[in-house]
Amino acid sequence: MVKASAPGKCILFGEHAVVYGQPALACSISQRMSIELEREDTFDSWRIDGRTFNGKKHPHIKYIRDHLPPHDEQPLHIRIRGTIPKASGLGSSAALSVALCGALQQIRDEPQNLQQASELSHQAEAQAQGGRASPMDTATSAYGGFVVLSDSIEEDLDFIETRSMEVNGEQQEWHLHTFEATIPEGTALVIGNTGVHGSTSAMVLQVAELIQNEPTRKVELETIGAIARRGIQALRNGDMKAVGQAMSENHIVLRSLGVSSPDLERLIRAAAPSSLGVKMTGAGGGGCMIALTENPEETVGAIEMQGGRAFITAFNEPGLQIEHLT
Ligand code: PMV
Repeated sequence: MVKASAPGKCILFGEHAVVYGQPALACSISQRMSIELEREDTFDSWRIDGRTFNGKKHPHIKYIRDHLPPHDEQPLHIRIRGTIPKASGLGSSAALSVALCGALQQIRDEPQNLQQASELSHQAEAQAQGGRASPMDTATSAYGGFVVLSDSIEEDLDFIETRSMEVNGEQQEWHLHTFEATIPEGTALVIGNTGVHGSTSAMVLQVAELIQNEPTRKVELETIGAIARRGIQALRNGDMKAVGQAMSENHIVLRSLGVSSPDLERLIRAAAPSSLGVKMTGAGGGGCMIALTENPEETVGAIEMQGGRAFITAFNEPGLQIEHLT
């Protein structure tokens, strides 16, 4: 039996615009998904949590299994565990894909390969999102910590790799970086979940159609890119007030793109008075919001008063991890 786990992520700046090559910043969170793989002795086909594996129901898993098959024919039993709520903008499917890559690399007796895990998982996400997916979720889940995507190689950040993919008929290129951020003592990130499932592919398609029908709206994506740049610099300077300000500005542009929702707005309004900055995170249409706050308990309480589920998350959690079992 082998086991691997990978963290979820939240996007501090740049969702949606990053699909079109604009800069963005994500960070790994405390919630993780884990995958256990065990050789199947009783059944002659693959199973997932006790049921026969159906590739149509689990397209990510099928994609990764097909690209990283075990060396022998013996089927496997996949067990999925985790604390990342599904379809909530916290990257549960990316974390699942990355953890599966880590587990399959072990089954294949290969050393842990983060780049391969990040790349294969990105391709699996793109396939499930109608070809429109940035490598942000999957890279953050694989590498952990803070991940910056940019349209150019940033000299003052630690460069990881370059990834390209065709999106809406245009070749997009993302340069992935990381950096060490020092978060001042007392500053926390609170996640508020509306409990409403948002569909990443539907929201990404909605933005694609908006841009196609009204090409001038591309300016909004560029505005998000500019805010993201400012926010990333503020974080590197340890200026949390400016980080929060940029987060809130980012949210206003996301709202004007039509990807927020009444539930998200309600939680954001509730969290704002006790926070440095608030925004939705991920694809939207439901899912989660985040608040950067110096009063985490108060912010959690305010979100819960409005019917959201709220929790405090740590920054800088490790990426893909192999768990050695005896
Ligand atoms: O909601 P999530 O966790 O799937 O995040 C989606 C982020 C987008 O920028 C909307 C899409 C992408 O592929 O980057």
